[in-house]
Amino acid sequence: MAQTAQLTIDGRSYQLPLLTGSEEERALDITGLRQQTGLITLDSGYGNTGSCRSAITFIDGEKGILRYRGYPIEELAAHSSFLEVAYLLIYGELPSEQQLTAFKNNVTCHTMIHEDLKHIYQAFPPDAHPMAPLSAVVSALSTFYQDALDPLNPEHVELAICRLLGKLPTIAAYAYKKSIGQPFIYPDDRLEYAANFLQMMFSVPPEPYQVDPELSHTLDQLFLVHADHEQNCSASTVRMVGSSRANLFASISAGISALWGPLHGGANQGVLEMLQRIADDGGNVEKYVALAKDKSSGFRLMGFGHRVYKNFDPRARMLKQECDIVLGKLGIEDPLLDIARRLEETALHDEYFIERKLYPNVDFYSGTIYRAMGFPLNMFPVLFAIGRLPGWIAQWKEMIEHHERIARPRQLYVGPQQRHYLPLDQRGS
Ligand code: ACO
Repeated sequence: MAQTAQLTIDGRSYQLPLLTGSEEERALDITGLRQQTGLITLDSGYGNTGSCRSAITFIDGEKGILRYRGYPIEELAAHSSFLEVAYLLIYGELPSEQQLTAFKNNVTCHTMIHEDLKHIYQAFPPDAHPMAPLSAVVSALSTFYQDALDPLNPEHVELAICRLLGKLPTIAAYAYKKSIGQPFIYPDDRLEYAANFLQMMFSVPPEPYQVDPELSHTLDQLFLVHADHEQNCSASTVRMVGSSRANLFASISAGISALWGPLHGGANQGVLEMLQRIADDGGNVEKYVALAKDKSSGFRLMGFGHRVYKNFDPRARMLKQECDIVLGKLGIEDPLLDIARRLEETALHDEYFIERKLYPNVDFYSGTIYRAMGFPLNMFPVLFAIGRLPGWIAQWKEMIEHHERIARPRQLYVGPQQRHYLPLDQRGS
């Protein structure tokens, strides 16, 4: 028998269905609440609101578990590749060898962007943050591919998916090249996904460039661990924009903008800026932990805390190890890594952080690896966006396939009650 919860308001009782997810998570279904009671729920920041049913990613924030389509992130990082995981997220199952080859070919044959699109980059100042051209060019793709914009046409969607996956690294690398005044480097489809991105970022026409296979493997893994994280701010944005039946390019462009913020994907850049600030200030980690605890300072430990994880973010654990490997391989001794380690150690033993269950998140160590690889700070959120793209696509596609209604929250109005317009000469000073 279906379980229900009883809600009593003003002496009247209402039955609300209780739902259970595949990992025994329970939810109160309030779909009929307003119709039955006239009431809405208020949940600022959506901390208690399930916006959809989703079969893509499972997180247990208390236990520090992250799974894509049921597969633990640790297993995928150890054995899989970014494009295989992209397939898994978007289509629901791991591909056969044949399916993976076909998928890779479909993505790879879409790596170039239209030559006219390059002109957009000229409109940006050289010091533009690369997330701005990234979002703008992705949105502009919709004007170049008007043959594949219908969200309800599976063939259109398929084409748009491959175009986006193929082109995003090219769009990102061009943003960087523009910012440093170097010529755009065309994609080389003989290379793997991450390797191709590295050569578009770091090669220059007059010099030979050899992609380091270990670094490209690390970057592939970094993309993979960022690939989805269920209903976070940017994924929810993508779903919300898409719920109006906006095309996939427009929806992803909005997701890129949402990711940009320092409380979300911009935090990886924020972490390095914070570590540099601490280093410039004499490396006094305790001072900054104290500052983070002082609410009036407005300072937070970037890369710490998470809405869902109240335990170690499993991605942070993996990236901490990867950080040691990459820096060791490159023979880099980064003083900021030392500060990061001391900061983590101090915070994890501090009552304030323990009480609030604030642990390092994925952004805490990713930036140190990116820096060691030679990426400038403002490219960090862009790298996050490339990694997150399959998740956004999977979330958008699921929303379309579930025929979700347009996302349209309500509000508790707390403004003035009705009043009447006064002509200017009657309003006083
Ligand atoms: N430093 C100091 N205090 C913190 C931090 C932090 N990084 N994060 C949370 N807190 C404190 C809050 O001040 C609050 O304290 P209070 O209960 O005394 O008021 C308590 O911990 C709960 O914090 P909230 O802001 O309510 O938590 P929320 O779930 O809304 O925010 C967020 C989560 C945005 C990630 C937050 O922890 C934060 O700002 N972290 C720093 C930015 C960051 O690293 N973002 C990346 C997140 S991961 C990602 O997007 C990929």
